[in-house]
Formats: sequence, structure tokens, C-alpha cells
Amino acid sequence: MHQCRICKGSYESFISFGKMPIANGFLRSEEFGKEYFFELATGFCPKCGMVQLIDQPNRDMMFHENYAFFSSTSSFMKQHFKEFAELIMQDIRQKSHPFVMEIGSNDGIMLQNFAKAKIRHLGIEPSANVAKVAIENGIDTISEFFDEQLAEKIKAKYGQADAIVAANVMCHIPTIHSVVEGYRILLKPDGIIMFEDPYLGDIIENTLYDQIYDEHVFLFSVASIGYLFGEHGMEIVDVIPQTTHGGSMRYVIAHKGARKISQRVIDQQEKEKQLGLHLPQTYMQFRKNVENSRDELVQLLKDIKKQGKRVVGYAATSKSTTINNYCGITSELVEYISDTTPIKQGKFSPGTHIPVKAYENFKNNYPEYALLYAYNHSKEIMAKEQDFMAKGGKWITYVPKVGVLG
Ligand code: TYD
Ligand code: ZN
Repeated sequence: MHQCRICKGSYESFISFGKMPIANGFLRSEEFGKEYFFELATGFCPKCGMVQLIDQPNRDMMFHENYAFFSSTSSFMKQHFKEFAELIMQDIRQKSHPFVMEIGSNDGIMLQNFAKAKIRHLGIEPSANVAKVAIENGIDTISEFFDEQLAEKIKAKYGQADAIVAANVMCHIPTIHSVVEGYRILLKPDGIIMFEDPYLGDIIENTLYDQIYDEHVFLFSVASIGYLFGEHGMEIVDVIPQTTHGGSMRYVIAHKGARKISQRVIDQQEKEKQLGLHLPQTYMQFRKNVENSRDELVQLLKDIKKQGKRVVGYAATSKSTTINNYCGITSELVEYISDTTPIKQGKFSPGTHIPVKAYENFKNNYPEYALLYAYNHSKEIMAKEQDFMAKGGKWITYVPKVGVLG
């Protein structure tokens, strides 16, 4: 039994993926012996509905000086955040001198839209090297971890915010109560919070088990988010499903009673009931689905290898670390992983040590198959890889089912 980070109730694990390295811990060959491993396991709390990691590595091990994730590398994501920013701008349009804050502002992919529109903004980004890029691009950024104490300091210096935004950040923070309390402190009485993260409903429905890794301490649902914010005098007033990360949910939150609750919230709550997100047996079934998905993927890769065909991994994503380690995929089955991020190139994938190489290797010498680790960017990738497919290249996917495309 474990103690729930949200309601302090007790809960049990429903799946363990075994020993896992840090998902974004791409490493050099000299570092192979020093790699850190922890047991990746997840549980469901029946009281508040939160799905969460049992253990999480120290956050300094995950987000540090050399943290390799820069949001702006994807053009699709740039467009996504531009549209997200426009939605917020609509909400604050009537206000005089509005103030927008973002928690986990990365390289400024979202806030640049406010900077351009000359709207007062502030980003909080704990990774110093990523924050530096944002500051160099003219985006007001503080490089610290956000919590209640920082919220008080910001309130004293800048005042309260009309809108608080976060994308793919909230689910990373084990001490989330302190963040939500910080929001309560900083949010104007009529302000809104909009945040989005991978959605538990999609993860369960499509067996997206690669969304489970060290950084994602929580997998949110409308039920668990409603419980969490309810503890801090706030409520969900709208929900807007997103296609990002294989399925995300954008939650719109306000102080209790401040705004009308949309019918979409009620409909989504009903959908979660139909999916059985409140029932322990749903997670037992998920575990079976995960095991089947693993067995099928490994079999497919082995069959292709037997035929003497080449497989290259497409995109060295963090989430591929769960796939590679849980399925035991090494360079025996996947020759190398192609990735466009310079600081990942020349390194090796965490745990199973598949080489990561520059995209040109792929482009100049197509394999027969590409294992699509970045399925969440498949639209963008399919558009870009017409030539690969025209030359007979095929995609291996495991989402929502293991199979070959193209
Ligand atoms: P992302 O979806 O952000 O994955 P995660 O959150 O799991 O890390 O994937 C980003 C990675 O994918 C990044 O390393 C760049 C790489 N990538 C490519 O190599 N080529 C592409 O065309 C795209 C879209 C991404
Ligand atoms: Zn709980």
C-alpha cells in the first residue's frame, strides 16, 4: 500500500515496468556503467481517482542544466501553442493591462505569442539552460521551481494574474498541492487557469503505456483534477480534448462559483464513468493490454530481423525509453534512432543503449522500416517523409495497436 499524493488515502500498484532509467537520460558510452535506474510502477487511488507513479527519481536528476528538451523543435507544436495563446487572448481581451503567467514555460514557445502582442507576461522555467534561450528571445522568465512561496513573491512584485497557463508541466510535479495553492494565491477573482497534459482516458483507451515514465508522476482525468482543485477552492469550468501527445486534455479552471460550468465538463465526467476510470478492474485490463502490446511488438521486430530487413527508430523521444526498456529493444532489433535534436545525436538511448544519430543518416540511407516512436507527431512526420514512403519505406507503430503502415 502507498500513500496518495493528492488525498493521502492508500492505493496499490496495478503495473510495474521493472527497472527503468531516466527517460530523457540520453548518455555517452563512457557513462554506461553509471546509469541510474529505479522501479517504474503505477497505481490508482480509488478515493480521489488519481493515477500516479509509486516512486519517482529526485527531480534534480530529471530536470537539470543539461535537460535536453526544447519545445520549439516541432513546427506542429508551435502552431498548437499559437492557437492556445489566441484562446487565452480572447478571454483577457476586455481587461486593462492583462497579466499572463506560464508555469514551465520552456523556451518560450507559448509566451512568445504574448511577447509579440506586447501583453505583460511572466514565465517560470526551472531548467536554467532552457530559460536562458527564452530570456534571449525577449520573454520575461524566472528560472525557479514554482510553489506557494514563489507565488507569494510573484504576487508581491507583479500582482495577480488574469490567466495562468501550463502545458505538459502539471503532471510532472509530485508536490502538486503547493503548485495549485500557488495558483489560488496568484489568480485574480475572475481569472482563469488553463492547463493541458496527457489524458488518462486516451492512455487507457489506446494502451499508450509509453506516457508512463519518470517525468509523468500523474496521469490526470477530469475526476482527479476536479478533486485536486476542489481542495483549493477552485473548480473545472471547461474541458477541451486535444490531439497532442496521443491524446491530452485541456482543463479550464476558475475560483469556485466565479464562472459558469460548461456542459462539456458534465459530458466528460459521464464518459469517464463509461470508460470505467473509477474502477480498479479497468487498470487490471490495461495491464493485460500493455503486456499483449509488448509481446506483439517484440515478435514483429524479430520477424523483420529474420527477414534480414533494417529497422531504424524515428525520434529519440522520452517516452520511447519505456518502450525500449520494457520490451527489451536494443540495437539488435533497432539499428539506431534518428533524431533532429543536436544534443541527443552521438549519444545512446537510456537503458538499452541504441545509438542516436542525426536525421541525415536516415534521409541518405533509408531502412526498410522506421519504428515511429514520435507517433504523437505523425501528421507532421508523414507529410515530411513522402519520399521514404514512395521508396517503399514502411512504418512500424504500436499505437493504438501494434502494426505496419504504408
Ligand atoms: P516529443 O513528442 O516531444 O517526445 P517526448 O515528450 O516523449 O520526449 O518528441 C520530440 C523528439 O522527437 C525530439 O527529440 C525531436 C524528435 N523529432 C524528430 O527527430 N523528427 C521529427 O520530425 C519530429 C517531429 C521530432
Ligand atoms: Zn487519492
